[in-house]
Amino acid sequence: MADAHAKMTQATPQEFIISVLAGLFAPLLAIVLVVMLILGIQAKHLPDTSSEAAQKAILERIKPVATLAAVDANAPKVEKSGQAVFDAVCTTCHTPGALGAPKYGNKGDWGSRISQGYDTLIKHAIEGIRQMPPRGGDGDLSDTEVARAVAYMADAAGAKFKAPEAAAPAAPAAAAATAAKPDPAKGKAVYEASCAACHATGVAGAPKMGDKAAWGPRVSQGYATLYDHALHGIRGMPAKGGNAALSEADLADAVGFLMTQGGGKL
Ligand code: HEC
Ligand code: HEC
Repeated sequence: MADAHAKMTQATPQEFIISVLAGLFAPLLAIVLVVMLILGIQAKHLPDTSSEAAQKAILERIKPVATLAAVDANAPKVEKSGQAVFDAVCTTCHTPGALGAPKYGNKGDWGSRISQGYDTLIKHAIEGIRQMPPRGGDGDLSDTEVARAVAYMADAAGAKFKAPEAAAPAAPAAAAATAAKPDPAKGKAVYEASCAACHATGVAGAPKMGDKAAWGPRVSQGYATLYDHALHGIRGMPAKGGNAALSEADLADAVGFLMTQGGGKL
């Protein structure tokens, strides 16, 4: 009896090794199978990029990003109309009336809100109020865009708000404005004091005073650009010719002098 019991519980060394290997192997095999399954699924879902059509499709897909990157960051932002803002942002809640938002075109929903006045509604739309997120959740919207969307919605519910028009175009470049009237006659003295050190001899590649060949292509950039380069420096040309104390008016006169001596016209 004791013998039989011992046989049942005590495995031989071979049996022991086999059971250990089986114990390790089964989960390992399962993991390998699962990994192979996932890789197989992914391989099927990866788009085939070899065909011309597929590559065209990819180019088409990345195009908007590439176009955006080329947009001039300094170009004035074109502000969207009230309807465009509504369609892009506000409609999510204000069409179905989600979260208790006053529904677009519903006079009952909007009546008491409209009576608060346009300015208050704009303020609430910009800052947010209760469940209404600031700027409808789109922080990129300008105040003008939000105000237009408010008018678009409120007017559809009976208000007669006048949405703000496009802002007046930005003033022309400051450099051109400051440097409006250089006086080359006065510029000669400034030149001799602050610019001649380089521009008389052509040190470091400076275009020589009066050398029309050297100044020709520079002059063709226009006075405002030349002044800007003299003010801020460009390559070997230090800002204000290295004389920080020089006034902008004096600098303008000196640029005017160099420019006219170089064959340019102001
Ligand atoms: C996430 C949902 C949501 C979005 C998106 C949203 N709104 Fe609202 N809006 C609400 C809710 C909810 C209210 C009601 C808030 C309250 O009075 O409790 C509301 C109320 C308003 C009011 C009335 C405020 C008042 O004083 O009565 C204005 C105006 C408004 N929204 C403008 C906008 C504009 C403009 C946009 C798009 C730029 C926009 N909303 C986008 C949810 C939203
Ligand atoms: C330390 C030497 C130095 C001094 C001093 C100096 N310049 Fe220049 N300047 C240069 C050099 C070098 C260039 C050529 C830069 C280039 O285009 O690579 C240059 C170019 C310019 C240009 C042409 C810029 C362009 O866009 O082509 C103007 C205008 C100019 N200098 C104005 C002045 C005036 C005005 C002063 C005096 C207030 C002055 N510079 C003093 C070295 C000098």
